[in-house]
Amino acid sequence: MTHSYRLSTHSPEETQAVAKKLAAQLSAGDVLAMIGNLASGKTTFTQGLTSHYEVTEYALSPTFTYINEYHGKELDIIHIDAYRLNTGEELISMGIWEYYESNSIIIIEWADIVASAIPEDAFGLSFRAIEGEESGREILINSPRKLDL
Ligand SMILES: Nc1ncnc2c1ncn2[C@@H]1O[C@H](COP(=O)(O)OP(=O)(O)O)[C@@H](O)[C@H]1O
Ligand SMILES: [Mg+2]
Repeated sequence: MTHSYRLSTHSPEETQAVAKKLAAQLSAGDVLAMIGNLASGKTTFTQGLTSHYEVTEYALSPTFTYINEYHGKELDIIHIDAYRLNTGEELISMGIWEYYESNSIIIIEWADIVASAIPEDAFGLSFRAIEGEESGREILINSPRKLDL
């Protein structure tokens, strides 16, 4: 069963606060599949998540490197940007299954592009700008588990 949560945020800090709250409820092996246009807040959310795990590096969009690895206090976070990929097969050939089995938290931006390589029990996070509100974002979270958000 999927549990759905719809949140509105009004600043990057508020988006990061939502991410930190989610991060506290994640476990090793969880996969977060993010969709949403450019500048909708996917990387900002990731920064909130890495800060929960006390990652010292600043999370940057891995659009040019595809994959960034962050070493957090309790576990590693693998941050993938699929913007420049074309199919799930490409992600598989980059070794995504090893990451899924690595007991890290896996975050994938532009998950819709690589949908065939996303596990069925992944968290789905969808980001959208709120019309008429420059710093307004709507975040829809579909979770395989009940969450407190
Ligand atoms: N409520 C908000 N949540 C997240 N980002 C916001 C918000 N309001 C404004 N922003 C700005 O929007 C941009 C989001 O960019 P980013 O997180 O890189 O998006 P994406 O990774 O989806 O392309 C940043 O410049 C951020 O400061
Ligand atoms: Mg990004």
